[in-house]
Order: sequence, then structure tokens, then C-alpha cells
Amino acid sequence: MARYAQIIGWGMCVPDHVLTNDDLSRIVDTSDEWIRTRTGIRERRIVSGETETTSTLAVKAARAALEVANLSPQQLDAVIVATVTPDYPFPATACLVQDRLGAVRASAFDLNAGCSGFVYGLSIGSSLIVSGQADHVLVIGAETLSRITNWNDRDTCVLFGDGAGAVVLAASQTPGGVRATVLGADGSGGDLLILPAGGSRHPASRQTVDDGLHFIHMRGREVFRFATQIMAQAARQVAEQAGWTLDEVSLIIPHQANERVIQSSLGRLKLPPERVFSNLERYGNTSAASIPIALCEAVTEGRIHADDRLILVGFGAGLTWAAAAVQWGVPLPVQPLPWWRRLWRWLIYRGARWRSLALRALRWLAGLLSGPVQHNGWRARLSAWRERRRQASKEPVPPQAPSER
Ligand code: UT7
Repeated sequence: MARYAQIIGWGMCVPDHVLTNDDLSRIVDTSDEWIRTRTGIRERRIVSGETETTSTLAVKAARAALEVANLSPQQLDAVIVATVTPDYPFPATACLVQDRLGAVRASAFDLNAGCSGFVYGLSIGSSLIVSGQADHVLVIGAETLSRITNWNDRDTCVLFGDGAGAVVLAASQTPGGVRATVLGADGSGGDLLILPAGGSRHPASRQTVDDGLHFIHMRGREVFRFATQIMAQAARQVAEQAGWTLDEVSLIIPHQANERVIQSSLGRLKLPPERVFSNLERYGNTSAASIPIALCEAVTEGRIHADDRLILVGFGAGLTWAAAAVQWGVPLPVQPLPWWRRLWRWLIYRGARWRSLALRALRWLAGLLSGPVQHNGWRARLSAWRERRRQASKEPVPPQAPSER
């Protein structure tokens, strides 16, 4: 029997702190007028303090998505986090999210495809479902770009913001959900949008910090040119693969990078503006989080209805591009959960935290008590002590017995 990957839950989280264009004009030589006319952005959200990170935003978006799906985290088979700003290079942010949610049965991994990451994740998640390897997959796009933004560089600092969006994919026998995806890459453009240091090419050093190589470096005009061509092309291709004409598409949700990119690329598709969703002016470019955040807001604003045909399309660092054709399967609006179910969910998340603490404590205890480790430790210390004694007495070193090697 055919299996389909339906979107049954969605959620988003943006930090409370708002940074307006006027705020930015007090930091660098720019103006609200320049930013609005060149990009369409009025304000963006920025994380504050050390406690707000990519994983904390991702967890909040994920919980909201699980609530809409009315699904317990234990039912998840996989957690995919698309991000270019993970909490750490490793472990994967997805593992931190998996632990915080208590998604004990789920595999977890990060995915870096720049701003196209969420749609890449949607494609992989739906393939896991359609192939029968998973029944429920959580796909998250989450970023804290403010942490890699050079606040002295007016070319880039006006563009980016922080946030997270998530969807829950579920196996279904009802035709619909993710009907087709198109993924692409052109690594020859990798240097157009790059975080130069912190990897194996330029490991972190005093020099890389002094040279500002841990910040976003972008050749804006070239990225602009690439974006305007590729978004229209990818949208066309994915509609064709799904067997749709562009006239049948109810709403296009493009990556929110620049209003001029959206207008000029989708203008090529000759779609009326009401069929293109944009919330860029409030959040700026949140990279992998931009499409799922826009999807959530399109639902909230009543722009999506059951059976609607949607195209999600993005481009980004890599260079990469991705598009997904989604047939919306859930009747809207979704009824909120009753209070007792919300309470139950709260208890599950509390339980996940205690479980994580208990596992850490057990691991620590096991380390203390573990026999072989201590034994090896004593053996190593004993032979070092014997070696020192031999050196001190200038005795010739006897050949080593095989058992001591
Ligand atoms: O997710 C993918 C991420 N990247 C993108 O989507 C980026 C795509 N590119 C863009 O969005 C646009 O290229 C930008 C918004 C980055 C720049 O817009 P532009 O119209 O291509 O401007 P420009 O780079 O050609 O610069 C025009 C002028 C320059 O001054 P001069 O050389 O003409 O005197 C810049 O120095 O604007 C100046 N400028 C600014 N002025 C005020 C650049 N940034 C600013 C600024 N405020 N923030």
C-alpha cells in the first residue's frame, strides 16, 4: 500500500528581543530607508544571553509542532535539525533537541545545506517515511545567525535574524503531503557565502579571530543574481514533478532573504503577489528557519486551507537550492489541546529533563566504580614508577615480558 508523508504539526519560536533598522543605524553607517528599500526588512529578532541558543529555539518550535500534531516525543523516529549555527560543531544540535524532548526512540542528526536546509530536511524526512523506515519525523530549521554576524559590517549585519520553525511529518495512506522535492548544489559558488574559519581549513586561532574569519562573509550581488534565477527554476521543476501547473499552486513560500529577490525571481513565474508569502520585514533572513517560520505564519494568517497546493522554495550557502511541492492534508484551524493533555505534555518534558540528568549521573557513577579503568590506571602508574626507579638507579632496562606490553 502506498505511503505518503503528511505535515501534521508545525510550530515556531523567535526570540523576544527585537532589533529595528533604527537600532542598527546607531551601530553601523546605515539607515532604515536603505535597509527597507534594498531588502524589505524592518526588524529582526536576536537572541540574548548565553541561555538562548539554536537548540533552545529549536526545542520550543518542536514542542509547539508536537502539540499541534498531538504527538508524544516518544513516537518520533527521527529528529533532523537544519542549521548553519549549531550549538557546537559536535555533538549535533539534533541530539541536544532529542534529549530535551525525551524523543528516546529517535535517531538524530544535523543537516547543513545553508538556507535550503529545511527543504533538504523535508525531502529526507519524507523519504524516510515513504520508504517505511520511519512513521514520524521531526524536521526543524533553527538558527542564531546573530552569533556569527559581524556587527561592524553593514553589508551583512542588516540582513540576518534568529529563530526556529519545525514540522512533524507522519506516515499516511491518504494521498497528499510532500509530493515532490527538487534538491541541487553548485559548490563552485561556495566562497560567495562562507564562514571561513573554525573548520579544518582554518582552525580557530588568535589570528582567525583577529582577522574576523568567524563571521559571515558574503558577496551579496553574486548571491542575488544566483537567487533570482534558481528560485523560479526550482519552483517550476518541482511543480512539474508533482504533476501540477503553476496556476494550480495556491501559495508559494520562498526563502525570506530579500524582498527584491522574492519579487524578481517569482515575477518570472508570473504569479500574482497574493500567491507569494512574505514575512521578511519582521524577521529578516533567518536562513534554514525562514521557510518553516513563514509556513507557520501562513497557517496562522489563514493563507493555507485543506488540500491547498504549496511550493516551498529556497536557496543558500553551498551554493544550494531546494523546492518541495506540498499538498496540505490537515483541516484548519486546529483545535487547541484540552488542559489535561497540555499538563500531561508538560510532565513528559519535565520527565525528559530528569531522565537526562539521571543518565548523566549514572554515567558519572559508572566511571567512578568501573574496575578495568582503575586497574589500567594503576598498572600504568606502577610501570611509570618502575621506569623512574630504573632511570634513577641507571640500571639496564630488562626486556619486557609479553604480558606487560
Ligand atoms: O540566504 C542567502 C543570503 N544572502 C542573500 O540573499 C543576499 C542577496 N543579496 C542581497 O540581498 C543584496 O545584494 C544586498 C542587500 C546584500 C545588497 O544590496 P545591493 O542592492 O546589491 O547593494 P550593493 O551591494 O550593490 O551596494 C550598493 C551600495 C554600496 O555603496 P556604493 O559602493 O554604491 O557607494 C554599498 O557600500 O550600498 C552600500 N551599502 C549600504 N549602504 C547603507 C551596502 N550595505 C549598506 C547598508 N547601508 N547596510
